[in-house]
Amino acid sequence: MADQVDQPAGRADIIVLTSLREQVLRRVAESDSRITGLHEPWNHNHHYHRVIIGVIGPDCRHALDVGCGQGTLTRQLRTRVSTVTGIDRDERSIALARARADPQFRDICYIRGDFLTEPITPESVDLVTAVASLHHMNPEAALRKMADVLRPGGILVVIGLARDASVADFLLVVPAAIGNLAHRFAHSWRCRGTRRSSEPCYQSPIIWPPALTYRQARRVAEHVLPGVRYRRRLYWRYSLVWIKPER
Ligand SMILES: C[S@@+](CC[C@H](N)C(=O)[O-])C[C@H]1O[C@@H](n2cnc3c(N)ncnc32)[C@H](O)[C@@H]1O
Repeated sequence: MADQVDQPAGRADIIVLTSLREQVLRRVAESDSRITGLHEPWNHNHHYHRVIIGVIGPDCRHALDVGCGQGTLTRQLRTRVSTVTGIDRDERSIALARARADPQFRDICYIRGDFLTEPITPESVDLVTAVASLHHMNPEAALRKMADVLRPGGILVVIGLARDASVADFLLVVPAAIGNLAHRFAHSWRCRGTRRSSEPCYQSPIIWPPALTYRQARRVAEHVLPGVRYRRRLYWRYSLVWIKPER
């Protein structure tokens, strides 16, 4: 304390500002770790998890993540929802999801299987999510099944990929590239000094380019899910949010 009193005014200000900046960065990193998982590198799919987290209401008791990959979203969902199920047809992804379970939440149920054929009780789920997985399946069949397993009043959120086809699609590449750079820089800045996982990376199956254009994906969604809210997003994504009508 005595040292700080003796500092010239400018230097003391710098110390206060530096400590404030550190506190802010720590807070941001802590809130990031709650929302996206600090040790999960930023990517275009994780970026939109907040769209999903934002729709979870207090009456949401069972969430199902379709094409859960290595379980990043299921781990986040489990901090807010008491029963979480992840399904993926890729064996290695499911094995990694199980291995990465948070010691606090070892009860996430992972199913290695094809969502389209896996028997799931109709109207048994409050929230269905699908991040970057819808374009791996027949989209109409998959959306119908997602709607079927959802209870009336339940919510479906899809973060989907589609194919660039219009001039507007191609123009969006510019802000996406800038945002991409900024996010990656910000993420490595926040995570500096934190321990990085030494696990080897595994890429869950990807399909690129997607078969449907944005316009086609939107048309299918509006046909299967009347009243669905479609939004075009940056980073080659769109979102669908649909509330299943009460009977
Ligand atoms: C690009 S990855 C996305 C993984 C994860 N949702 C994420 O955001 O990181 C797509 C995943 O969907 C899975 N998938 C594709 N078709 C599926 C199906 N019919 N049933 C279950 N999973 C499927 C793939 O195995 C893959 O892990």
